[in-house]
Amino acid sequence: MQRVLGVLLSVSWGGPAPRSLCSPNPCCQSQNVMKVLAILYDGGKPAEEEPRLLGTVENKLGLKPWLDSLGHELVSSSKEGADSDFQKHLADAEVLITTPFHPGYLTRDLVEKAPKLKLCITAGVGSDHIDLNAAVDHRIQVLEVSGSNVVSVAEHVVMSILALVRNFIPAHEMIERGDWQVSEIARNAFDLEGKVVGTIGAGRIGYRVLQRLVPFDCAELLYYDYAPLPPAAAKAVNARRVEDLKEFVSQCDVVTVNCPLHEGTRGLVNAELLKHFKKGAWLVNTARGAICDKDAVAEALKSGQLNGYAGDVWNVQPAPKDHVWRTVKNPIGGGNGMVPHYSGTTLDAQQRYADGTRKILQNYIEGKEQEAQNIIIGLGKYETKAYGQR
Ligand code: NAI
Repeated sequence: MQRVLGVLLSVSWGGPAPRSLCSPNPCCQSQNVMKVLAILYDGGKPAEEEPRLLGTVENKLGLKPWLDSLGHELVSSSKEGADSDFQKHLADAEVLITTPFHPGYLTRDLVEKAPKLKLCITAGVGSDHIDLNAAVDHRIQVLEVSGSNVVSVAEHVVMSILALVRNFIPAHEMIERGDWQVSEIARNAFDLEGKVVGTIGAGRIGYRVLQRLVPFDCAELLYYDYAPLPPAAAKAVNARRVEDLKEFVSQCDVVTVNCPLHEGTRGLVNAELLKHFKKGAWLVNTARGAICDKDAVAEALKSGQLNGYAGDVWNVQPAPKDHVWRTVKNPIGGGNGMVPHYSGTTLDAQQRYADGTRKILQNYIEGKEQEAQNIIIGLGKYETKAYGQR
């Protein structure tokens, strides 16, 4: 019903419809100095040279001059671990900003050591780095900049699907090596036309992937999601819902993962499920690394059960140098399309999530109502339906 209303209100399905905000709207507790802790990633030389790299420790989401002018303190750091700035400043921070690209993992243990914490803002989309149940218990609000990078990710998904299906990466590597053996590449290159492509999760990103695939004349577009698309939205992309996950994967040539990481999706793509994939299917995961079982995916690729695996998300970030996903290949030496976590942090996306973070912070400081679509955890409860069925 919520989705039906959403589609009636907008021209096309853009994601879950806004919920009405029923929780009270807390604002900045300390009228004098509020500490805002931003855990971002070290940008190094590129961040000095490119000021549009806003999501870095150096450029601080562009928030520093504004917060300074209001007399609030902004501490920006990338550090984790027991003696880190993250843990030190968390002790008296009122607001925590984190980016999913180099997340500060806010465990229940850390929540309990942060008595002043009132608001967590995800500069981007995806708040699984926060123990959301602990945030509920401690009445800490969690907000995302919903929609800020969904096109960026959807484009990356389509690119990754094409790169795998067309065997692009080994072809390019061959050229760099100075070789030229067309048959070696063409033996595992296919067209996307005529293939069945399915998305696990048909929210903002999943739906945009489906929209972008329409002109490729796939045999069929499928989706698996506990929340069905509004009929008009499903019809617009000609997508069919499959309610059983095993049945769903068994029908797909390509599976793309576009759901949040939560209790119901951790390890969802595991050895058992991979047995139900079509032999030689391609799998793209730009949602969260831990939705796919690291070793099971590596084994499936090595054995040829999967022909390719691509994505930008890892079960540990930054991924260790010897992480199996960096190098694992299919039996004929291709099929790996892994990159660092960057699909949702293009320069265009960084501007959008920096603006959105500032807006959330401003609403908080001024005691204004937050945009309903950004609220993951309200005061003491989940406000979203996307992080599992409760
Ligand atoms: P969304 O909230 O619009 O859509 C998520 C969809 O997943 C919802 O329709 C929900 O019902 C569905 N879902 C939840 N649990 C499911 C389950 N067990 N099985 C099937 N479907 C399920 O979220 P959006 O904007 O599409 O983002 C999705 C995820 O993508 C984020 O939570 C984040 O983890 C990831 N992401 C990755 C980025 C990157 O840079 N790689 C950037 C942005 C988001």
